[in-house]
Amino acid sequence: MSTAISPTAYNYKVVRQFAIMTVVWGILGMGLGVFIASQLVWPELNFGLPWTTFGRLRPLHTNLVIFAFGGCALFATSYYVVQRTCQTRLISDSLAAFTFWGWQAVIVGAIVTLPLGYTTTKEYAELEWPLAILLAIVWVTYGLVFFGTIVKRNTKHIYVGNWFYGAFIVVTAMLHIVNHASLPVSFFKSYSAYSGATDAMIQWWYGHNAVGFFLTTGFLGMMYYFVPKQAERPIYSYRLSIVHFWALITLYIWAGPHHLHYTALPDWAQSLGMAMSIILLAPSWGGMINGMMTLSGAWHKLRTDPILRFLVVSLAFYGMSTFEGPMMAIKTVNSLSHYTDWTIGHVHAGALGWVAMISIGAIYHMIPKLFGRNQMHSIALINTHFWLATIGTVLYIASMWVNGITQGLMWRAINDDGTLTYSFVEALQASHPGFIVRALGGAFFASGMLFMAYNVFRTVRASDPVEAEAAAKIAVVGAH
Ligand code: HEM
Ligand code: HEM
Repeated sequence: MSTAISPTAYNYKVVRQFAIMTVVWGILGMGLGVFIASQLVWPELNFGLPWTTFGRLRPLHTNLVIFAFGGCALFATSYYVVQRTCQTRLISDSLAAFTFWGWQAVIVGAIVTLPLGYTTTKEYAELEWPLAILLAIVWVTYGLVFFGTIVKRNTKHIYVGNWFYGAFIVVTAMLHIVNHASLPVSFFKSYSAYSGATDAMIQWWYGHNAVGFFLTTGFLGMMYYFVPKQAERPIYSYRLSIVHFWALITLYIWAGPHHLHYTALPDWAQSLGMAMSIILLAPSWGGMINGMMTLSGAWHKLRTDPILRFLVVSLAFYGMSTFEGPMMAIKTVNSLSHYTDWTIGHVHAGALGWVAMISIGAIYHMIPKLFGRNQMHSIALINTHFWLATIGTVLYIASMWVNGITQGLMWRAINDDGTLTYSFVEALQASHPGFIVRALGGAFFASGMLFMAYNVFRTVRASDPVEAEAAAKIAVVGAH
């Protein structure tokens, strides 16, 4: 079909802004990851200053990689996908611009306040109330722009990728607002509205669903658009994608208690969280298989297309981390893995292997299209980036598995007389080689981002503004 439906153009400006900032925050967040990983190898790098200690920089790392890097990738791709699949421009340019500048302001706020020690102490929800309120306003505006655009779409149905993005936006708003309910006592200090075990449960209902909806559902939206696009094949099974969607969002929300095994949380809640986590394996793998099988008949493209390689390897890591997660949710396994580096390895199998790799693939796919070029400046550099990222991820997670299991076994080893076989310091000494390998793996991954920045810079610099504007034209039905 080639009916002209609208003379207007997509709003690519905001997509370009978010796409570029994804690369910038990726370098800073991962660079900081390498720095804190190095602090665990060489403690002198804490410099004896409160602002530069591991304890303050660690939450800055998590905020930068999850919300700045991951968040910008999600904003960029969702605005791109929703416009192209709905064949319409975003509902409001000014509201979209507000989400861009508002989001950057929240991130800058995090960079200033976290090293100064201002924190709610809730993991992944550390930002104090003024920033948390700004974030809520930006997020609700994001919802208005996204859903408003869906309402004014020029297509009949809503592509499944938008369902995933939509669920991610709605649930993130709900989690953020409920978990941040608090009583401010000064401009920089507030106390949670909840206490004791309730506070812990609300926090991990938030924390796990930050993983489930922010780090998974949004990125699955990305997967459903960019994998078929890059492979030039329709999604393997549209029916499976619908089952995948409903099963995933129904189950994820119950799994939070697996973060609180063997705590004061009622035992039934822990067991429920464990059972739901194990069931979660099914929709997770359903989604992974749907993405992988989209390549049926196109596997040969992997030999020549490093962007497709990023996307497919991200799915392999997604499958791996969503197999590992349900295993770690089993109480007896968790009694070994909890508090150890095994959790850190699991986190980064998901974060580097899945979240970062799929974002990188999607950004490489979008940049030439956003700037009116045929392809990225250098395909060879994308390939170099791919190998640095893959080797980096493997070094990171393998070293953390070894460390995690070593720590777990050393901590629980008991002599005949009931005393501990090893002191904590002995377990730490045994972990030192793994810390070195992890820092090395992280350096591999982060240096790949520098190649990406150069490649993006060269592509953007070669861009012709007239061609870039032409690329944004909404031309024909089915042009997405
Ligand atoms: C079916 C899917 C998954 C299940 C059932 C699952 C389960 C788990 C379990 C049991 C833990 C350890 C909790 C503890 O001992 O404290 C954990 C930690 C974690 N997982 Fe997963 N996981 C899944 C997928 C993922 C994915 C895909 C990602 C990343 C994109 C991820 C990110 C995390 C993070 C960030 C933590 C650490 C939370 C913290 O303690 O700060 N998980 N997960
Ligand atoms: C170059 C890449 C990276 C390096 C070297 C790195 C390094 C680290 C280190 C050293 C920690 C602290 C571990 C500890 O407390 O023992 C950490 C925590 C964490 N990182 Fe990264 N990181 C990188 C990339 C990422 C990315 C891209 C994401 C997310 C998209 C991410 C998410 C997290 C999370 C959620 C935690 C907290 C885990 C927990 O509390 O269980 N990291 N990272």
